[in-house]
Amino acid sequence: MSKIQFKTSPNGQLNGTLRVPGDKSMSHRSIMLGSLAQGATQVKGFLNGEDCIATMNAFRAMGVDIEEQSPTELTINGVGIQGLQAPKTDLDMGNSGTAMRLMTGLLAGQNFASTLVGDASLSTRPMNRIIKPLSMMGAQIEPEEGGRPPLKINGGAQLKGIHYDLPVASAQVKSAVLLAGLFAEGETSVTEPGVTRDHTERMLRGFGYDVVTRGDKGEKISLTGGGSLKATRIDVPADISSAAFFMVGASIAEGSDLTLKHVGINPTRTGVIDILKLMGADISLSNQHEVGGEPVADIRIRSAQLKGIHIPEELVPLAIDEFPVIFIAAACAEGETILSGAEELRVKESDRIQVMADGLINCGIDANATPDGIIIQPGQLTSGTVDSHGDHRIAMAFSIAGLRANGEITINDCANVNTSFPDFVKLASGVGLGVRSG
Ligand code: S3P
Repeated sequence: MSKIQFKTSPNGQLNGTLRVPGDKSMSHRSIMLGSLAQGATQVKGFLNGEDCIATMNAFRAMGVDIEEQSPTELTINGVGIQGLQAPKTDLDMGNSGTAMRLMTGLLAGQNFASTLVGDASLSTRPMNRIIKPLSMMGAQIEPEEGGRPPLKINGGAQLKGIHYDLPVASAQVKSAVLLAGLFAEGETSVTEPGVTRDHTERMLRGFGYDVVTRGDKGEKISLTGGGSLKATRIDVPADISSAAFFMVGASIAEGSDLTLKHVGINPTRTGVIDILKLMGADISLSNQHEVGGEPVADIRIRSAQLKGIHIPEELVPLAIDEFPVIFIAAACAEGETILSGAEELRVKESDRIQVMADGLINCGIDANATPDGIIIQPGQLTSGTVDSHGDHRIAMAFSIAGLRANGEITINDCANVNTSFPDFVKLASGVGLGVRSG
């Protein structure tokens, strides 16, 4: 457990303008596709957090030259689709499920062997969900007992395209299969049970690769192996998952009026806006435009009295990373909030249903974990001590809860906030959040 602790102070309000760091999903993918492209890819707005740095280091270990003009501006000198070299050591994916799952897809079709390892949290996370379809394609992957990391990937397998019906709505599984499909013979396709984030498909197209999406809601996605990627420019917008903390914070702290700049509003990611609006939040979008195939906007939030709702299940995959802070909104609303159909939350960086229920109870809120969700009765947040279980989003969610607590909240084990949101305490303090790190 890390020794970094956050402590909140009550009665803040959030005002002014803020640009949160770059999108994590897009930053990972920019390194992966930029490395496999021919030529130099320029990236700006890159998330210089530990998760994406792990991905960057992995590609450097496979012979890719990546120049950092600044922490958020990179030039990736791509080696071409067949140009990766065998790494001399294990590839450490740190805390990142995205890095491990997408990289497994990408490495399954290489002519060299590799081993992917992760930290304590990542080493407990389920990998059979990617091992199953990748094995159907001909990949040879050996996990630890129970399908957990480390993963040993034997090189030299000639992959074959498959069609795979995803049993869970997971962009990581979809992306692992599609990335393996780049190295497979023939067509690879997936069908999704619910819409998941489509950054892999969009970015592949940005690199000139043909990806076909069929069905009203993008249910079937296919590509054909053996093509090549052409270097491009990528402008990574601010991460809506990081912006979400401030959307909730400004909603629940009376007197707030906050504008979040240049936030990615890809429709596969905007569930948090829809859910907060259903709860009565005052959120408006302006300056909407596209950057590099991804929609962005400025988002203005003014405080409002929220009300409890039964969260529509179809919004769950579209807000999958935002539930910890949505639960804080629910604790401050009028009336009960019910979440169901969200069992995936139990296998994220922590068991986010149980860890949030425990933390809310420690801060005076009546919260009941259910197998696939939670029931929250709002009330007065009090002082209390919360164990984040090393989960960045739990730590930041309870920092936001501090705005409405009648005393200090102490949050333990906060070092992993750096995986997705470097400088969180500094940026949040700058717009009025009472939080300090010690
Ligand atoms: C991600 C997909 C989501 C999300 C994760 C990032 C991605 O996971 O929770 O933080 O970049 O593809 P699942 O697709 O497994 O739900």
